[in-house]
Amino acid sequence: MTLAVGELYWDPFDVEIDTNPYECWRRLRDEAPVYRNERYDFWALSRFADVQAASADPKTFMSSRGTVLELMGSEMAFTNMIIFMDPPEHDSLRALVSRAFTPKRVAALEERIRDVCVSLLDPFVGAGEFDYVQDFGAQLPSTVISMLLGVPASERREVLHHIDTIFHIEPGVGMVNDISVRSQMWLMEYISEKLAERRLQPRDDLFTALVQAEIPDDAGGSRRLTDLEAAAFGNLLVSAGTETVARLLGWTAVVLDAHPEQRSEVAADRALIPNTVEELLRFEAPSPVQGRWTSRDVEMHGVTIPANSKVLLITGSAGRDERRYANADTFDVHREIGTHVTFGFGIHFCLGAALARLEGRIALEETLKRFPEWQVDHGRAERLHTSTVRGWKSVPVAVA
Ligand code: HEM
Repeated sequence: MTLAVGELYWDPFDVEIDTNPYECWRRLRDEAPVYRNERYDFWALSRFADVQAASADPKTFMSSRGTVLELMGSEMAFTNMIIFMDPPEHDSLRALVSRAFTPKRVAALEERIRDVCVSLLDPFVGAGEFDYVQDFGAQLPSTVISMLLGVPASERREVLHHIDTIFHIEPGVGMVNDISVRSQMWLMEYISEKLAERRLQPRDDLFTALVQAEIPDDAGGSRRLTDLEAAAFGNLLVSAGTETVARLLGWTAVVLDAHPEQRSEVAADRALIPNTVEELLRFEAPSPVQGRWTSRDVEMHGVTIPANSKVLLITGSAGRDERRYANADTFDVHREIGTHVTFGFGIHFCLGAALARLEGRIALEETLKRFPEWQVDHGRAERLHTSTVRGWKSVPVAVA
């Protein structure tokens, strides 16, 4: 949309703003920490402290009316996914999945994740060029989450195609379009089939854990998950665990190429890799906006957000808040980051954070082992604009 020079405007659908939102987010933090967008009827918080405080108060800032702007308010879209639930329902389901999704289960994946990285990257040694996102970044997380759940290798490509399609957005309606909805339904059906198979033949995978898991029931006893609950959970893990990590890896290629001296330093000292991943997460948040619904009037910075309002928490802006991070716009692999909110904060803190960090670390280790340098072809690189993730669809890189 066209605006008078200097007018402060932000919405999450505007492709031009999304390409480089940082100046706009800086102005939101400075000039309108409680920003109001009339056109799409939402409020936005952009400062680190406000985003963190709102995330820590799920009673006031609820998730059960949706967390993706264009899907907020309509009740039907989000039953049964913990990311769209409030306590107490959220907590019992989350406890259940945390039990299935243990640090031990995640750590046990290290070797398998490394094997996947090796098999994806080795073919490009000596090839001169490959697409860091299409050929690697998008393949790794879908393979890993599929392994974890128990999706057979032969079906992974089709599953990934539908996951990608779910994130398809159209102007004005975002993810509420036939193409996206068809793929969501396909995935739900697919997962239901797998769950039915596991009921008959349990295996050592997450699909089986989901059908065997029990949660407290209303009568004080316990019960198994319903088909819909289990399928919704599988669906959430697949969608949340794939697109986000693919975006993190795209940013890894682009940001490190833009900082070649730091890349050389990290290549020479692999102990810097975990903090590099953390700094990448702070610097370019793969999932930069989380929606909430207010249960009461909230006053902040002299502005009252009325009850029953949509509030967008811009976690991507929080990571660049100079009130929280010195030289926030500088990428620095040595930075002492402390807390960041790129994985959210509070009860909805990303369930897959340990897995995402593990994938980010091993991906970078295996990349630098083979390719200590690469050059991004910006002429052919392509951005991806969806309602939930921000990053790159295609990053062609030249390698020695
Ligand atoms: C770099 C990668 C990732 C990023 C940036 C990311 C980001 C986030 C954020 C910001 C939230 C909080 C949403 C909110 O407050 O409304 C979240 C929640 C969640 N994430 Fe992730 N995520 C990543 C990877 C993963 C992976 C690999 C998985 C699973 C395998 C996963 C599963 C989930 C789930 C299930 C929730 C909901 C938790 C709850 O509501 O209690 N995420 N993630």
